[in-house]
Amino acid sequence: MLRVELVVNGQDVRRDVPDNMLLSTFLREEVQLTGTHIGCDTTQCGACVVSIDGETVKSCTMLALQANRRSVTTIEGIANGSELHPMQRAFSECHGLQCGYCTPGMVIAAIDIVERSEEPLTAARVREELKGNLCRCTGYVNIVKSVLRGAELMGRPVDRV
Ligand code: FES
Ligand code: FES
Repeated sequence: MLRVELVVNGQDVRRDVPDNMLLSTFLREEVQLTGTHIGCDTTQCGACVVSIDGETVKSCTMLALQANRRSVTTIEGIANGSELHPMQRAFSECHGLQCGYCTPGMVIAAIDIVERSEEPLTAARVREELKGNLCRCTGYVNIVKSVLRGAELMGRPVDRV
């Protein structure tokens, strides 16, 4: 067991963990943040995406110990109290979820896409950037619409032509 100390959604967290514990397992089982989903465990689906120091990471691909002294944001940490994050509102408004299993990873990845986008965001760019996030329901049309709408709600330019 080794000690890990990190910040999760603004809260200090300290735990002794096995050195082979995945960050996804740590978040779900040690911190009880079950919004981070595990869809494949083989780095393909993106259901486990979280943000670490502002960069998106597949948390099933990283050890909890590798997050030591870092700041992790999960889907539970993006709303402002009871006010949803604009990207969460967009997914709700545009029906960007079906079973919802992939949704936490999609939303975290979508926020990152919007924040990194220097040009007006296009549907083609969203599709390209979401390659690492799989939706088994294959409802991608509404997911892409949701990300574009989320960008607008975040005050970023969108090119719908
Ligand atoms: S559970 Fe991590 S990529 Fe699928
Ligand atoms: S909404 Fe069901 S897997 Fe994406």
